[in-house]
Amino acid sequence: MLIAQITDLHIGVGKDIGAKDNEKRLKLVFQALRKIRPQPDLIIATGDLTETGSVEAYRKLKKMFDSFPMKIWPVMGNHDNRENFTKVFSDAFFEDGFMQYVLESDDSRVIISDTMEPGKHGGGFCERRAAWLDKQLKENTDKPVLLAIHHPPLFTGIDWMTAHNDEPWVQRLRQTVEPHSHVKKIICGHIHRPISTQFMRTGITVSAAVAAQIGLDLSPINPDKPDGRPLVVDEPPGFALHMWNNGQFLSHFCVAGKYKVLLPYGKPMTKAMRNVFHVRPR
Ligand SMILES: [Fe+2]
Ligand SMILES: [Fe+2]
Repeated sequence: MLIAQITDLHIGVGKDIGAKDNEKRLKLVFQALRKIRPQPDLIIATGDLTETGSVEAYRKLKKMFDSFPMKIWPVMGNHDNRENFTKVFSDAFFEDGFMQYVLESDDSRVIISDTMEPGKHGGGFCERRAAWLDKQLKENTDKPVLLAIHHPPLFTGIDWMTAHNDEPWVQRLRQTVEPHSHVKKIICGHIHRPISTQFMRTGITVSAAVAAQIGLDLSPINPDKPDGRPLVVDEPPGFALHMWNNGQFLSHFCVAGKYKVLLPYGKPMTKAMRNVFHVRPR
């Protein structure tokens, strides 16, 4: 199972922030995804699909998704709007009012959960969503689970883009996931930077955004003293690939764009390549 993750597309229309740039950036990511070998089995877009959650923005997003040969499975982020999303994507999976659903395959399960709380920048995870997730996690426990959500329940070190352990939604998610050791991976977006760490026994990663990235500055921020630090930067669009391999999900973080190939695998490389394979223990 090879899962591609794109996140934080922030597709906009008209005067929405980044409207033109984010469309171009998504096209670059699509080009990069088309070149992946082998092609992913699944593509998940982990939220902030649009900048404002307007119907017009979802229409534009749908056109772009329809231009791509694979289905792209959506997740809700804080910039999204559930009601407007369903007006455009009529086949969306909602249960109990939240975008939450399960994708079953022979060797693993992908569970999409909804951490969006209207009007709030940070995450939310209420009792109803916790009960739904707990129910899903009690089924097919022999299969590893990859859980996809928008908000990482993590301290990130980036002062203005972080969650704290004592937030009720973080605690509830922790209590829901902790008893289920078959949750092998949690994938998130929202931070607009690649991050990898642990969430109890579970590996957790955040993918870089399709839209502009958040500046990397791990020093404390003072809300009353602007210090000129870069908050948002024009680093290239990114995405992630998660591969189910030998009992674990292995993640690659990728950058999309036009880059020169400096060393193609041509005939002069065969000797070096054979050496690599001869020294590898079989
Ligand atoms: Fe975002
Ligand atoms: Fe977000």
